[in-house]
Formats: sequence, C-alpha cells, structure tokens
Amino acid sequence: MNATATETRTPVLSAKRLVKTYGHVVGLDGVSLDLYAGEVLAIIGDNGAGKTTLIKCLTGAEIPDEGELSLDGKPVHFRRPQDARDAGIETVYQSLAVSPALDVAANMYLGREMRRPGFLGSVLRMLDTKSMRKNARDELTRLGISTLQDVTVPIENLSGGQRQAVAVARAAAFGSKVVVLDEPTAALGVREGKQVLELIKRLRDTGVPVILISHNMPHVFEVADRIHIQRLGKRAGTITPSSHTMSEAVAIMTGAQTL
Ligand SMILES: Nc1ncnc2c1ncn2[C@@H]1O[C@H](COP(=O)(O)OP(=O)(O)OP(=O)(O)O)[C@@H](O)[C@H]1O
Ligand SMILES: [Mg+2]
Repeated sequence: MNATATETRTPVLSAKRLVKTYGHVVGLDGVSLDLYAGEVLAIIGDNGAGKTTLIKCLTGAEIPDEGELSLDGKPVHFRRPQDARDAGIETVYQSLAVSPALDVAANMYLGREMRRPGFLGSVLRMLDTKSMRKNARDELTRLGISTLQDVTVPIENLSGGQRQAVAVARAAAFGSKVVVLDEPTAALGVREGKQVLELIKRLRDTGVPVILISHNMPHVFEVADRIHIQRLGKRAGTITPSSHTMSEAVAIMTGAQTL
C-alpha cells in the first residue's frame, strides 16, 4: 500500500459551493458537503434554511446556479431526478411516493418493473411478479425488516412505519451509492420511528451512506455520524454527536451560538 492510501478518503458524493436562487430569494448560498462511504450525515436547520433545496440540488430535482457535484471523485451534472437515480442515488421524500392499492413487492418495483423472459415480457410486456416478489422478500430480509414478510399485502393495509420501511427499502434496494431521506420519521409514532432508525443504521452498515434530513434532535443524535447544520442558506458548520450537545446544535442552528 502506498503512502497516499492512508490519506483522506474520496467522498462518495461531494458538493462544492452550491448556489441556488429563486428570484430574489437565496435558497443556497455557496454550500459544500462531503458524504463518505458507510456514514449517516444528518442535515438540520430551521424552516427555510435550505435543507430541501440542498438535497434537491444533490439529487437532480433542482439544477444549481453555481457549484460542482462529483460522485466517486468524478464530476456529474444531474439535469433531472432520473439522472441521479441512474447514478445510484435514491431519494425518499416526506410525502411518500407509494401507491396504496399496490402490494409491497409492486411498490418496491414501481417504475422498474421486471418483465417475463422472452416473448411474454418483451412483446406482451407481462410482469414477472414471481421474481419481483422473491427479490422484494430477499431485500426486506437483507435489511432486517422482519415484520413485512408478506410482500403481497397492499400498502394501504400497512402501518405508517411499515410504509416508510417499504419506501426506505425500495431506496436501499436501488440506491447502490447513496440514499437520501427527507424527514423519514416525521409523523411516525415512537415505535415506528425507531424501526425506521434501525433500518437507516442497517443500511449504513451495508456500506451505503445515508443523508438524513430531520427536525428530530434525539433521532439525529442517535443515528448520525456527522451533522451538517444549515442556517439562512449557508452551512453554519458540521459537528458530530460527540463534539456537541443537542442544545449546542440548536444554538448553532438558530444563530445563538457560532462554531
Ligand atoms: N420553488 C421555490 N420557489 C421560491 N422559493 C423557494 C422555492 N423553494 C425554496 N424556496 C425558498 O428557499 C429557501 C430554502 O427553502 P427550503 O425548502 O430549502 O428550506 P428547508 O430548510 O427545507 O425548510 P423546512 O424545514 O421548512 O422544510 C426558503 O426561503 C424558501 O422559501
Ligand atoms: Mg424542507
């Protein structure tokens, strides 16, 4: 191993000096962010601090006015969300994009349906339901979601936490490089929130880095390796759960304390 191998790792995802304005409103004002393999990076900040704008710029939902983005050290230019998905970045938004009437397996493969082999699939476009169900079951098992073994249950019959789990599992199944979660535990009960947190940890343990936006400080401090603090469109700082307390994090968030 050469000497440079012991130096700083290349971030999986790196953003440099992102700027995004909406007319006169500055959503992002030169924000940089590095995400490393196997970490949970939380993004916190007050309402309007630029959290959602930041992840939109990372996931192709918005095109930044300025700044650079790189994946595994190579420059990327996402023009739409599908570009980011194709590159292995999956995003779960707070308003879940699940179809209540479809079952768990169908939801996991929504937009990526597997077709039957040969003529049946290529010409008649018949779905390979059996394979999708098997793969969905395997994926849920891999992520340790034991409460969801029946993948033929319609989503509408699941609890809020289980639905979140399906959305996160879908992201985990296809997010080969990065998984981005926008408020995944908001509006969940204590037990359901815990389940989603456990899922995030397991996902991280498989090596896939996770970006987690949350207003829930105990959740952030439980699961995050590092915490990026947004304030008024800028990054006020990046801390860790061991370097700062929750009240210090909130103080930095609100501007009562500077780093
Ligand atoms: N499409 C848009 N058009 C105009 N202004 C926008 C748009 N999207 C965001 N903004 C503005 O950019 C700023 C950052 O918004 P953003 O949604 O990123 O905040 P946030 O940190 O996600 O807040 P919250 O915690 O409330 O979700 C705000 O001032 C907001 O009003
Ligand atoms: Mg937001």
